[in-house]
Amino acid sequence: MSSTAALMPLAARGARPLAGRVRVPGDKSISHRALILGALAVGRTTVTGLLEGEDVLATAQAMRLLGATVTRTGPGAWTVEGVGVGGFAAPPETLDFGNSGTGCRLVMGAVAGSPVTAMFDGDASLRRRPMRRILDPILKMGATVVQSTEGDRLPVMLAGARDPLPIEYTTPVPSAQVKSAVLLAGLSAPGHTVVIESEATRDHTEKMLAHFGADVTVVPDGPHGRRITLVGQPELHGADVVVPADPSSAAFPLVAALLVPGSDVILDNVMTNPLRTGLITTLREMGASIEEVARREDGGEAMADLRVRASDLVGVEVPPDRAPAMIDEYPVLAVAAAFATGRTVMRGLKELRVKESDRLAATADLLRVNGVTVTIDGDDMIVEGLGAGRGLPPGGGLVASHMDHRIAMSALVMGLASEKPVSVDDAAFIATSFPGFVETMRGLGADIG
Ligand code: S3P
Repeated sequence: MSSTAALMPLAARGARPLAGRVRVPGDKSISHRALILGALAVGRTTVTGLLEGEDVLATAQAMRLLGATVTRTGPGAWTVEGVGVGGFAAPPETLDFGNSGTGCRLVMGAVAGSPVTAMFDGDASLRRRPMRRILDPILKMGATVVQSTEGDRLPVMLAGARDPLPIEYTTPVPSAQVKSAVLLAGLSAPGHTVVIESEATRDHTEKMLAHFGADVTVVPDGPHGRRITLVGQPELHGADVVVPADPSSAAFPLVAALLVPGSDVILDNVMTNPLRTGLITTLREMGASIEEVARREDGGEAMADLRVRASDLVGVEVPPDRAPAMIDEYPVLAVAAAFATGRTVMRGLKELRVKESDRLAATADLLRVNGVTVTIDGDDMIVEGLGAGRGLPPGGGLVASHMDHRIAMSALVMGLASEKPVSVDDAAFIATSFPGFVETMRGLGADIG
């Protein structure tokens, strides 16, 4: 995995207008879930458009080690022969999730419902991330931690429950990973497993469970929340999953097209699930021209082609309750904010501190080394946009990526539109979520190398 590879520096510089039509790789959240649910189903699952990034490939390998047959049949085309709910085998070696919190945490939930013991590990970034939020509910369901590192960090050896118990669980932080881990463990429990979240988070697990034959009910709970009820011990059947393009990856060419004057770009088949489109909402409030050209739906997920044209942006206030719908997009939004006229205030960003890096600090540093004024006030980030009439952000900085793909891509987007080039110390982690990023951007006319 990239953690052992040599550093891969890269720089981006001001370019001619970006133009053309591209399809960014498949959605990471849906790709992980398709492999995991395929492994827990009986019969064959076929997946098309799977993201073949390092994070998802690590989940594919984990499913193999747990007994499923996972086969690549062509580019993005995969099949999974599952072992059935509760049917995982004891893995003969450590499950190594590399850089991927989603893969690790969802599989912890799935393993909690099988009577097997598995060792979970990852790279230096993943070893720093909190696992207590997953262990708390799955221990209540009957799993046990055989061994862990101080502070419940990886590596963790987990023993799944022989007779898992259903629970009603209120998530302490808005996290689709926590919600999904509880639901995946709940598949093996009798009766009803209930998750209550005070802020709705991405609902791909709920939707995909229904697609594979589970009985899942979702009702509103409070002003922004949801109550999700899963009927345990379903017979999941194999299913066909078509993975749309990842809106969190589309965010990078999208913001680049807004910032590089004269650009006009179409992004094909981007997932537009409303729990993922907070960035588009915010950028439109800032004055961005983003048009949904052809709307459609597949497997319960909405998607559209997005036409994006260069736009003059203005600063806005982003409310904290929008964070779950754009949690991965703040670094690139902060870059857009640096080019906007006036101040952008992003509130309620606490969860950014526990992503692949401390993304709140890494994003602020990214902007500061490129001459932009940023303040972090508690959990809020305030960016002073330069905008029309005050010149462009100077750029010229070397950004530390901190093993974080989204920091690296955000820095390169900034370089495409600032006065001077922007460099990143290590672009290797981009391959975790967006293989072909540099080629895709170059195809639109970007100067990255
Ligand atoms: C994800 C949930 C989010 C997000 C991550 C993918 C998922 O994490 O940041 O990139 O697929 O469930 P949290 O659940 O920690 O918010």
